[in-house]
Amino acid sequence: MKKVTAFVGSAHKKNTHAAVAQYLDNLQALGEIEVEIVTLSNYKLGTCRGCRLCFEKGEQFCPLKDDRDVLMDKIMASDGVILATPNYSFQVSGLMKNFLDHFGFVFHRPCYFGKAFTSIVTQGIGGGDQIVKYLDFVGSNLGFNTLKGIKITALDPRTERDQARIDRALAAHSRQFYARLARPAYPAPSVFKLMLFRVGRTTMYRLLDDSSCDYRYYAGQGWFQSDYYYPTRLGVLKRAAGSLFDAMAPAVLRVLS
Ligand SMILES: Cc1cc2nc3c(=O)[nH]c(=O)nc-3n(C[C@H](O)[C@H](O)[C@H](O)COP(=O)(O)O)c2cc1C
Repeated sequence: MKKVTAFVGSAHKKNTHAAVAQYLDNLQALGEIEVEIVTLSNYKLGTCRGCRLCFEKGEQFCPLKDDRDVLMDKIMASDGVILATPNYSFQVSGLMKNFLDHFGFVFHRPCYFGKAFTSIVTQGIGGGDQIVKYLDFVGSNLGFNTLKGIKITALDPRTERDQARIDRALAAHSRQFYARLARPAYPAPSVFKLMLFRVGRTTMYRLLDDSSCDYRYYAGQGWFQSDYYYPTRLGVLKRAAGSLFDAMAPAVLRVLS
């Protein structure tokens, strides 16, 4: 049975919670899915101090002794992850942003390959598309297989028509996410993703050494030799493109420096 966990960045059980609960009910109506709603406000999460110890020495050196690892374990135990947030002042809620800051090092050392991801943003009027875009970006860069998120717009009180529109949108999107969960967990990368990986890892190989936590992580994963983050079959063209991207890395490095 697949497990889907939704992390909710709203401190009260109103619009965002309601949308998530409905979304998860829809998923469960489609097949055997275990679900969990994680209300971030119920967990102890300190504010990032910007010390960079997670980047430079390792996440175990984070001075915040909080529930980060409890929440990360929940992600690791899931096949699908949903980040759900209200639009507060045209961004994710502070709760959600604080949660994401705890993942800063995972952008350097991605680890959520094989897991499906999407987002749910609720809002009163507008600005939510940018938030969905941001969360899609977050999901992809943490390693997830990302399905473009959904934005739910409704001013309260809602009309029946509004609610029916929301119900339809949530039902349609949950069907897409259900399909995503059923798809291969380790798909062949797009040329763009292949490029990001190959240029990134070759640049890191040339620029850093064993004293860097990120370098040791990449070396430990075998990423300096592998075709991609995970075993995958690249066709002839992608194989050639991959070699080209490796060769291009020094030029990219020169532009960056
Ligand atoms: C502090 C605050 C800021 C908000 N900012 C926006 C905004 O920028 N754009 C918008 O469309 N709605 C905004 N809203 C409305 C909420 O996004 C909307 O009501 C949402 O569904 C609330 O979800 P919740 O019930 O889970 O808190 C804001 C609400 C609050 C409380």
